Amino acid sequence: ARKVTTNTIQKMKAAGEKISMITAYDYSFAKIFDAAGIDIILVGDSASNVMAGHTTTLPITLDQMIYHAQSVVRGREKSLVVVDIPFGSYQSNSEIALASAIRIMKESGAHTVKLEGGEEIIDSVKKIVSAGIPVMGHLGLTPQSINKFGTYVVRATEESEAAKLRRDALMLQEAGAFAVVLEKIPAILAKEVSESLAIPTIGIGAGKYCDGQVLVMHDMLGINTEFKPRFLRQYLNLNEQITGAIHRYITDVKSNDFPNDQEQY
Ligand code: KIV
Ligand code: NA
Repeated sequence: ARKVTTNTIQKMKAAGEKISMITAYDYSFAKIFDAAGIDIILVGDSASNVMAGHTTTLPITLDQMIYHAQSVVRGREKSLVVVDIPFGSYQSNSEIALASAIRIMKESGAHTVKLEGGEEIIDSVKKIVSAGIPVMGHLGLTPQSINKFGTYVVRATEESEAAKLRRDALMLQEAGAFAVVLEKIPAILAKEVSESLAIPTIGIGAGKYCDGQVLVMHDMLGINTEFKPRFLRQYLNLNEQITGAIHRYITDVKSNDFPNDQEQY
């Protein structure tokens, strides 16, 4: 089986082959997604929301991200594994950023790290890349900065913000990033950025012109049904299916139907 590397991802862009990416936070789901043929598994700091129940990504710690990453890596055979460096573990300076990236790589066996931001964190990107650790960028809606923006609305609809995003994308490419996530920006801006870069763009709420797409597993599988932004395509309603299964189980236990004669020793 062909293992996906950062080189594979870059060749896919050159060949016009779209890149598929999904989040995972544990061994069992990572194993299913990997076996199904997903190109990239992201151990997102969205774990803070979907795994831990926080309202933002800010509280999750580096140790907790490493725990999730270790579990995902154990389930992976072919997919490229990217791990978010959490809030507070890279913003202060490039040495701290590198130390966090090294911990993730050493302790989890993941292949690359992801950081949010452009110019503000460019020294950290260079430092991490120079240590031989591939970096994925993340621009547009950057959830770790939610307190600066106060809202999760579409980003870069104003020309000044769009111009900064174009500059940041180029800076990330020059700093050695191998790909960049574009979150919740106008499709036309994502198209321009995707065309101007040699490295692939992976979109979420950034339209059809990106070189790849990413979704949070709980959203696309319909586990989390309260979150319904326009960009989300829900492939399953697992919430409904799981609820039905649990109802049947409860009924069977209460009615003495489970276990039956064949289901005991
Ligand atoms: O943490 C996450 O799930 C992400 C994706 C939404 C890109 O960063
Ligand atoms: Na993230």
